[in-house]
Amino acid sequence: MSTPSLLILPGDGIGPEVMVEVRKVIDWFGAKRDLKFEVSEDLVGGAAYDAHGAPLHDETMAKAQEVDAVLLGAVGGPKYDDLDFSVKPERGLLRLRKDMDLYANLRPAQCFDALADFSSLKKDVVAGLDIMIVRELTSGVYFGEPRGIFEEGNERVGINTQRYTESEIERVARSAFELAMRRNRKVCSMEKANVMESGILWREVTTRVSSDYPNVELSHMYADNGAMQLVRAPKQFDVILTDNLFGDILSDCAAMLTGSLGMLPSASLGAPMANGRPKALYEPVHGSAPDITGQGKANPIACILSFAMALRYSFDAGEDAARLEGAVNAVLADGIRTADLLGEEGVSPVSTSEMGDAVITALDATI
Ligand code: NAD
Ligand code: IPM
Ligand code: MN
Repeated sequence: MSTPSLLILPGDGIGPEVMVEVRKVIDWFGAKRDLKFEVSEDLVGGAAYDAHGAPLHDETMAKAQEVDAVLLGAVGGPKYDDLDFSVKPERGLLRLRKDMDLYANLRPAQCFDALADFSSLKKDVVAGLDIMIVRELTSGVYFGEPRGIFEEGNERVGINTQRYTESEIERVARSAFELAMRRNRKVCSMEKANVMESGILWREVTTRVSSDYPNVELSHMYADNGAMQLVRAPKQFDVILTDNLFGDILSDCAAMLTGSLGMLPSASLGAPMANGRPKALYEPVHGSAPDITGQGKANPIACILSFAMALRYSFDAGEDAARLEGAVNAVLADGIRTADLLGEEGVSPVSTSEMGDAVITALDATI
């Protein structure tokens, strides 16, 4: 087999800072585990706008379609706040997701033992937590038409449309059920069927799909109750299946169950390519964190764990993914913390690069 290809798009703000640490990890796997990648790097978001006047160059888009996986840092920042909507950094990321048809966004929230004390929730609420949010990523109110800001009488109206076809719901539901089969066989589907027709259809289709998975228990929950249950008793969940907007909000909420937004990785997967691998983009759930950019404070773990997801879902290297996750666990168990993970008295934070180095040292200890 030819060397698998990886396109790295560091993006803006802390994106490039955390990606430096991921490059160390990628190099480690090449040198020590003979897992080699053909790595190329390009621009996305504000960085691409600065260079080309667009948040994603067509050539970068074409490259993303060809590679085996894309790894992205983060996009956006205050410098770009006043740009026209069509060229905002976030549009670059949304185009990648849409054009690659990455409909299933996997956002796992796991509470590492060493961080159970650090969550803003009580330790026994989060200790041992391991849930997977499956967020629909290419449709819903993010992309529905009509959309825009229009004149209506003597004022303006802002319009976005929540729209889901049966097939869009069905394919992401199948992803959730397939994942649940390999986990604890429970899917909780969240929508607002009490007020939205798209929610009624979502509930019907997920129920229909569930008949193909008799060993998986399906439950339905209104998304507002889901948000409450997620902080009240998150361990009741295994896989949460939800739409694009609810999934965006619920996954940030789940981040705090794990201690920090700087801990949460994600995988965005589409249909299999000719080589059998799914179209895939891996990225941390967090954004460009303008408040800490350039200060060496960013936690690189979310992005490092996103690479672990790439090993598992794109490169058939589940054992090495577990090795990397184990190394992160070991680092945290040693009390090594970036500033976002600090609460304990008397512990001083390590920098972004020191955290990356600590993960490498822990990886060395695995062989
Ligand atoms: P954010 O995720 O960038 O930051 C929220 C808070 O979490 C900040 O206080 C930040 O310092 C902290 N934080 C985030 N990641 C961290 C890390 N790795 N280590 C330590 N602390 C971390 O969200 P925001 O401030 O609402 O958005 C800033 C910009 O990022 C906006 O332009 C937004 O559109 C964009 N954004 C991009 C993505 C993405 O690229 N996938 C995701 C979310 C937001
Ligand atoms: C995320 C982000 C994005 C989203 C933005 C930056 C487009 O918040 O990946 O969670 O809303 O999907
Ligand atoms: Mn988000």
